[in-house]
Amino acid sequence: MARHKHTKVTKAVFPVAGLGTRFLPATKSMPKEMLTLVDRPLIQYAIDEARSAGITDFIFVTARGKSALEDYFDHAPELDAALRRAGKTELLEVLRATDMESGAIAYIRQHRALGLGHAVWCARRLIGDEPFAVILPDDVIAGEPPCLRQMVEAYAETGGNMVAAMEVPPARASAYGVLDIASETGPLVRVKGMVEKPPAGTAPSNLAVIGRYILTPRVLQNLNARKTGAGGEVQLTDAIAQEVNSEGGVWGLRFKGQRYDCGSKAGFLQATVAFALSRDDLRDELSDYLHALLATQRAAQ
Ligand code: UTP
Repeated sequence: MARHKHTKVTKAVFPVAGLGTRFLPATKSMPKEMLTLVDRPLIQYAIDEARSAGITDFIFVTARGKSALEDYFDHAPELDAALRRAGKTELLEVLRATDMESGAIAYIRQHRALGLGHAVWCARRLIGDEPFAVILPDDVIAGEPPCLRQMVEAYAETGGNMVAAMEVPPARASAYGVLDIASETGPLVRVKGMVEKPPAGTAPSNLAVIGRYILTPRVLQNLNARKTGAGGEVQLTDAIAQEVNSEGGVWGLRFKGQRYDCGSKAGFLQATVAFALSRDDLRDELSDYLHALLATQRAAQ
């Protein structure tokens, strides 16, 4: 494949305006993106992944009740001073991960939860006329290099639009946006169509789109037309699908890594266990506990 020069991706949109109904009542007064995997909120994993992909401008699409997210990335002078007085240098270091350069994050409100496509559209003035990434923080991906970095590297070759693609069992395809595949080269898939939540038995493939995207400004223009797709929401999938025959086209990347659907209870619990077991300070204690718990349950059956 010829190597093209494509505009560097420096902006990322984080749509965090959803209602998070699957985590009610917790999400009544806290954003879903502040739910914590071990000791870091979901949004922190998303920001770290974006940074490692070279993103410098972070655009949060927020809503009422999400101010904890803004506070999380603000400076905390009193806490800093207290930790410094107590000589807790390790904790000060941990807090550094939440430091953002002044002006690096912009917050835009989505006034009504009209879907992911509408949320991205709300950021249009901040994105301007350049390619941009979209990260859904409730899709947490354990991968090295991190998923968005893999995508940015692949995008440097392909240009166009790129989505993260993952194989799902056919019975689960109707929960996702699904790719219609034109051709495949290694992990790269050339896409000829996309269907959001296809009815059972009609999915064009078993490759589903998950929450990482690199998009061209043309997708914003498509969203501007405000087409309403499946479920009465403004669908991002439809706006991307409109680009399959455009010059840059649409690509899927079969990324390397494990994705956890932290927007669902089961996925969130799996991620919690997996992330805890990957930590040196927790592995032994948790794994002993899990073994003992399972043994007790089996004995009781
Ligand atoms: P979800 O489909 O997971 O919806 O959105 P949700 O509202 O967050 O959660 P449930 O289904 O009610 O439990 C996927 C992503 O799109 C964002 C969400 O914040 C999440 O990151 N989103 C969704 C918006 O920003 N605005 C919307 O109107 C809808």
